[in-house]
Amino acid sequence: MNQVTELQNRALAEISASADLRQLDDLRVRYLGKKGEVTAQLKALGSMEPEQRKAHGQSVNALRDRLNEAINDRRAMLEAEALEQKLLSEKVDVTLPGRGEERGGLHPVTLAMDRAIAIFTKLGFDVATGPEVESDHYNFEALNFPPHHPARAMHDTFYFGDGRLLRTHTSPVQIRVMERSEPPFRIIAPGKVFRSDSDQTHTPMFHQVEGLLVGKGVSMADLKGVLHTFVEAFFERSLAMRFRPSYFPFTEPSAEVDIGWEKGGGAEPGWLEILGCGMVHPNVLRGCDVDPETYTGYAFGMGIERLAMLRYGVTDLRQFFDNDLEFLRQFQ
Ligand code: PHE
Repeated sequence: MNQVTELQNRALAEISASADLRQLDDLRVRYLGKKGEVTAQLKALGSMEPEQRKAHGQSVNALRDRLNEAINDRRAMLEAEALEQKLLSEKVDVTLPGRGEERGGLHPVTLAMDRAIAIFTKLGFDVATGPEVESDHYNFEALNFPPHHPARAMHDTFYFGDGRLLRTHTSPVQIRVMERSEPPFRIIAPGKVFRSDSDQTHTPMFHQVEGLLVGKGVSMADLKGVLHTFVEAFFERSLAMRFRPSYFPFTEPSAEVDIGWEKGGGAEPGWLEILGCGMVHPNVLRGCDVDPETYTGYAFGMGIERLAMLRYGVTDLRQFFDNDLEFLRQFQ
């Protein structure tokens, strides 16, 4: 009897002192497992006299039940404690300030491009597009660049082995538009162009917006009017503009357009070139089955990076392509 009581007191003390589920399970094995102390007592019953076995059996069975109960109680308590601990450690403080949302912004070249498109759209131009991988026909031939014409050399063309090339300007879209429909034409063609050229003011890929307007009685005065309206809308101020004679195989006459621009903080007035333009060459019209006796037209092409640099005061073209967030965030 004393032995059982002693065992019970010891076991109960240990069970209530167990610190976690693992320790508790070790105790269960130690007392009630196959080789446990209580199990050993039960096994010992077999070799006892019937009288003794009865009395001892009752107390050992009671001990087993008592310990089982104590272990289950302790387990429930430890589990509740563990859950409490977990809830406490994973608690979300809903009163803490939020981490904030990182909002993206459009790239300055995209902003300038969208601006140009919006202005020309208001002036009645439709948006046309063409492929960036072009044939010699669209990029040169149909634009009145004969084979071996020196103007081809100025384009630093990226060629694929099979005769195709990356378009060096958006002018091929002029041809695609005139080939697939009937005059009058009034389109702009925004997009990427490619030239094998890389320094402070040139990147191998840049953006242009092409313009083409063909109809009856279209003159260079119309071209001048539209371009002046465009630059003043784009820069949101009145600007001086001048046409300088130039040469492109697909326009005649051809001009480069400068705007009056103060260099170096407003001190020194000067001229900055912003685009090329001219009256569509009769050879180009004829090649697209447009009769140059009936129709005349103008075309222009401008570099968007250049316009974006002027509008946003960016001094190094390469900043547009560095993906530096400090730089890009300024345009949000
Ligand atoms: N395609 C010419 C260039 O990239 C620009 C241009 C377009 C000139 C249309 C005249 C007419 O330099």
